[in-house]
Amino acid sequence: MEYRGYDSVGIATINNGKIILKKGVGRVADVTKTLDLASMAGDTGVGHTRWATHGNVTNNNAHPHYGCTDRIAIVHNGIIENHKELKEELIGIGHIFKSDTDSEVIAHLLEKYYVDQKDIKKAVIDTCKRLEGAYAFVAVFENGTICGSRYNEPLIIGSVDTGHFISSDILGFLEYTNKAIYLDNRDTVILDSKNLQIFDMNGDPVNRAITQVAWELASIDKGKYAHHTLKEIHEQPVIVEKTGTQNLDRIDEFCNILKNSRTVILTGSGTSYHCALIAKHLLSNFAKIHAETIVSSEFQYTLDGIDSSSVLLAISQSGETADVLQAVKAAKHMGARLLSIVNIPTSSLARISDRFLPVECGPEVGVAATKSFTAQLSLIYTVVDRLCKGCLGFEDYKVFLGGALRKILDTEVEIHRIAERLRDATDIYIIGRSIHYPIALEGALKLKELAYIHAEGMTAGELKHGPLALIESNSYVIIINPNDTTFNDNIATAHEIKARGATIIGISDRPNDVYDIFIKIPSAKSIIYPIIEVLPFQILAYYLALAKNADPDYPRNLAKSVTVK
Ligand code: AGP
Repeated sequence: MEYRGYDSVGIATINNGKIILKKGVGRVADVTKTLDLASMAGDTGVGHTRWATHGNVTNNNAHPHYGCTDRIAIVHNGIIENHKELKEELIGIGHIFKSDTDSEVIAHLLEKYYVDQKDIKKAVIDTCKRLEGAYAFVAVFENGTICGSRYNEPLIIGSVDTGHFISSDILGFLEYTNKAIYLDNRDTVILDSKNLQIFDMNGDPVNRAITQVAWELASIDKGKYAHHTLKEIHEQPVIVEKTGTQNLDRIDEFCNILKNSRTVILTGSGTSYHCALIAKHLLSNFAKIHAETIVSSEFQYTLDGIDSSSVLLAISQSGETADVLQAVKAAKHMGARLLSIVNIPTSSLARISDRFLPVECGPEVGVAATKSFTAQLSLIYTVVDRLCKGCLGFEDYKVFLGGALRKILDTEVEIHRIAERLRDATDIYIIGRSIHYPIALEGALKLKELAYIHAEGMTAGELKHGPLALIESNSYVIIINPNDTTFNDNIATAHEIKARGATIIGISDRPNDVYDIFIKIPSAKSIIYPIIEVLPFQILAYYLALAKNADPDYPRNLAKSVTVK
């Protein structure tokens, strides 16, 4: 589970009727060295990687958590919103808490109900009835039983002939089995060495289908590259070339729903939202479909006008981002149809959608989205191209595009040198116009998360309305300036910036004297540039991270899938 980029780690195993629990702060690989794992025998266990929400990053706050005794240990993903009230109540009857987490209340509640009733099933169900918020938790009991339950957080069972896995992500067990059982909201599962039983909230047994998961997802190897992020950056030419080839019927069904909608609302978070901004531009201008964007975390405040004639198109790499899932559920509640573009076809988002298109770029391990963005964009271009009967010419352009990305990758050494030059930069402004503006936002996001540099993306025209006041001789401004209709206006803006002493970095296929530093990209059809011009930012941010001794695969404070609100 380490790929998600969390901050502390813990494990509990059961040996001879006793739970052995160890945990620590840091990455799995580092913490493991400090724990005497050899002493943790047993054929039942649970592990967890934490991304702090309630309570600092400390040993005590790492999961698993005991109740008052060491007879039950739990791990939890999500947020228990009524944890304060529950904690007060439990303290009132004598429970003693050892952490600042919301999660620990689950251990104490389970313990209380188990001590009262001596029945694991009842104890779990009664515990769930008390919890408000989102949860996927797993508890191990000293007798070797494991139980789990979920509400709005994923929990998946993997089955092999000799036993079972239970995990928040299929990648947790995919190297051992491709047979997965997806638990429904409020399901409870109880496992021991022989049996697997699933119950609803009334305690009645329920059957959940076994899904055969694609094995390809299991390959998360770095190959010859120093980091996953670099490998994923290099995978992009091939990903672009093969976009959409296997899914034409699905794409056409998707297009039909889009065509018949009154409004398409695009939503996503972070990088996926930047893709949504480009999708809006393409849908409105080329497919002539009315489209709007709402960033997922703001969706709940902007529900007016969404009804059964609307289509919500959610874009997400993981399909597990809590903000996105919340937006999707709100839109569903208003009667909208749900479409999604998602990399993990077994994710919660794919499963809740009326139709989804898989971006098929393989697992993305680096916390910073790189290849998933390019793959999402290529798929959007394919969809819009089919909607406008080939007006983008994207189908014929994919091979050219793959070649263009390879040419930029060939200049990696030069971009590396530029990164060395920028290593002490404190502020970088990135400007672009029209369809290049979302790339300015995406470029800034890459520099922030990988290189920890304050970076701001903005439309070039807005600079003079305020941000120009910030420009001084130690500022760097990157101008996304392909040779299209935005070129001349950008050059004019560049001169205004230069007059204030900033260093100008041009990303363009057309050189100009105003650039102090020039990153050359291949010339392309104007509408296609975004897929090309994002690549220099990814490479630059990667080498800036190295120059600043940051780990590009695991940026500080960030998680790969943000499954909490
Ligand atoms: C991008 O580099 C980020 N790490 C982040 O902004 C990400 O795009 C966002 O959290 C959305 O994730 P999703 O695509 O899996 O929904």
